[in-house]
Amino acid sequence: MTAVQNAIPRSVIWNDNHIKLLNQQKLPHSTEYLKLTDAAGVWEAIKTLKVRGAPAIGITAAFGLALSAQSHETRSIQEFIELVKKDRDFLASARPTAVNLVWALDRLLLKARKAKTVNEAKTDLLHEAIRIQVEDEDVCRTIGENGLSLFKDGDRILTICNAGSIATAKYGTALAPFYIAKQKDIDLKVFACETRPVLQGSRLTAWELMQAGVDVTLITDNMAAHTIKSKKITAIIAGADRIARNGDTANKIGTYNLAILANAFDIPFYIAAPLSTFDFTIPAGSVIPIEERNPEEVVYIGETRIAPEGVKVYNPAFDITPNELITGIITEKGILQGNYKEAIDQLVIS
Ligand code: MRU
Repeated sequence: MTAVQNAIPRSVIWNDNHIKLLNQQKLPHSTEYLKLTDAAGVWEAIKTLKVRGAPAIGITAAFGLALSAQSHETRSIQEFIELVKKDRDFLASARPTAVNLVWALDRLLLKARKAKTVNEAKTDLLHEAIRIQVEDEDVCRTIGENGLSLFKDGDRILTICNAGSIATAKYGTALAPFYIAKQKDIDLKVFACETRPVLQGSRLTAWELMQAGVDVTLITDNMAAHTIKSKKITAIIAGADRIARNGDTANKIGTYNLAILANAFDIPFYIAAPLSTFDFTIPAGSVIPIEERNPEEVVYIGETRIAPEGVKVYNPAFDITPNELITGIITEKGILQGNYKEAIDQLVIS
């Protein structure tokens, strides 16, 4: 492994009989790892953003389902499947927007349904969770290679939230091209929006890129337009939580603003996401459920209250970027451009 590869952090580690999870709530102040041993602990970790980012949520939930399954004592395969299904529904309820969560859980449920005995199902569930994680690392590296083909030495690229290594198995989606560029000695400069309310950009993206020595500059979200102009930003790239059949994309709140800015400044706006983030069952972004989170995230920064007691708060965690504002969707199967409906239909067929 190269020095850059070694420096890229990981958030989810399977450790024989438990999940070792990087507590992203504590970053960048401390790198604390939690030991998760049951579905309740995994649900809580997802709900409270100790693990976040669409693929990482899916991977953690998959290990949580496999872990919980090991403790079911019945010898009846029908009864076992019922218990796994209950766990699946419970874990799926942790967060509504990122489709990777139900995608990973349903992959495991399907495995369990194919098994003939409870013991076989328990082994298969664990193997499937490991496979999802291994595949995601490979997929993210490929997204990085594909994304890098769109950039050239000296480019200055703006991003939002954290679609990085700790949001996936490794490498990330929107941040993957920067790691691949670093390995190839290609100079890309990243500008990271801090991403209020919970600051994934400043706490996580800035932290993880700095670990690997990637050139990153932090800005507050309201500096985006001025920064695009004054720093001559050449492109914007973001991740995704769910992509509809027509290419409309749900991602962290503020992504839509950036897509509009990209359009106004006539610079490309890219989404980077694995196929596991596509929801082939929904026609358009208007039907994607948007998570609304605790108002405390808005009225506090850390421990400090920054708004009057009793103020009304609206706290949607995601927004929908209409497909017509997206220059290209970078996937492990290549870069989708033009008519997204046709390109995504093609993905389903192949
Ligand atoms: O609320 P979060 O931090 O889970 O939101 C994460 C994002 O919006 C990411 O951009 C998305 O999940 C892609 S992660 C590769």
